[in-house]
Amino acid sequence: MYLTKEEQRMLDGEEGYAVRKSMEILVALGEIYGAERLIKVGSVQVAGVSYHNLGDAGLEFLNELAKDGKVKVLTTLNPAGMDLENWRQLGISEDFAKKQEMVIQAFEKMGILVSCTCTPYLIGNLPRYGEHVAWSESSAVTFANSVLGAKTNREGGPSALAAAFVGKTPCYGLHLDENRVPDIHVKVEATLTKFSDWGALGYAIGKKAENKIPYITGIRDAEVDELKSFCASVVTYGAKPLFYMEGITPGAERWPVPKDTVTVEQRDIQEAYDHINDEVSDIDFICIGCPHCSIKEIAEISCLLEGKKIAANTEFWVATSRSVKQLADKRGYTAVIEQAGGKFACDTCMAVAPLKGRFKALATTSAKGCFYSRQNGMKTKMGSLEECIEAAVTGKWR
Ligand code: F3S
Repeated sequence: MYLTKEEQRMLDGEEGYAVRKSMEILVALGEIYGAERLIKVGSVQVAGVSYHNLGDAGLEFLNELAKDGKVKVLTTLNPAGMDLENWRQLGISEDFAKKQEMVIQAFEKMGILVSCTCTPYLIGNLPRYGEHVAWSESSAVTFANSVLGAKTNREGGPSALAAAFVGKTPCYGLHLDENRVPDIHVKVEATLTKFSDWGALGYAIGKKAENKIPYITGIRDAEVDELKSFCASVVTYGAKPLFYMEGITPGAERWPVPKDTVTVEQRDIQEAYDHINDEVSDIDFICIGCPHCSIKEIAEISCLLEGKKIAANTEFWVATSRSVKQLADKRGYTAVIEQAGGKFACDTCMAVAPLKGRFKALATTSAKGCFYSRQNGMKTKMGSLEECIEAAVTGKWR
């Protein structure tokens, strides 16, 4: 891979340990994937923030880098293993909290914005159309590539961090137009009637498209929250963090409609629900906010919960970024949700918090949330926000 003089100096260690280590990672990656050069990135989003996933080895790696490493571009973090302020109320242990705080301190020392969200585009990390970035959270990567039209590979935590220290990433994969060509036409003939249908659609398209880039037709309209839910699902149940939606996402018009065609019908949406929903009626955990809630979603939750009470022995979480929660505080939504017995889980989410063994059955609006909660040993139910709120106040899924 070609390196400029400045890049070679960084690789030789002239900017210190963190930059040298980062250059080693980026050059190795570039060589594996056949990149010819490094390209500048406008921003970075780093996953692998939860101590639950990092462990002591990960923490040690971060502390080493933090000794002399400072990020060169706007860098934000994926959710951590706990709400950084309110962890006690969410039942996190002192030991875990101590370690998680050490992880966050290391990131802070590197100059990273301690934002801890999978929706960085809602809080100011918003790339423009065509901009190269190095993001790692799969739903955010898919949103950046498909809804915003930015260009990013699905980075691992270390390669994203390396891009942040160098301000560059190897030019391969989805940074190159030749790898962004849609190669399967997905005709949607199903009607989407509720929010969770977007997660079901992501499941259906992810399964049908397999390793191809879908060019989706037949969707008349989509809100940003629906698209973010779809992004999370399509990449969880499929493979590619990129799709085009005719008339809705940018760039679709640049490509011819692929000849290879599959159709998504109503029965495919039903099949998705059948796969995602387990046989269970008693619900002890309801979590909304996968990906993290927007202020509009929190307003809806607050409206539906007003004057109600969460059932005894049932936890209701709203997962969001701290910045969006601050808006919710100002608008009075937080007070309504908390008065009903709901809790905010800022900076974290149901997949990365240490929840194994704590709950038996989850209700959520998110297909991706169900996928990861099953790995945490829970039975899962996916439905509309109204259905989830009903489960929260009755403890039952009807
Ligand atoms: Fe975000 Fe966690 Fe879902 S990172 S997309 S809330 S699994």
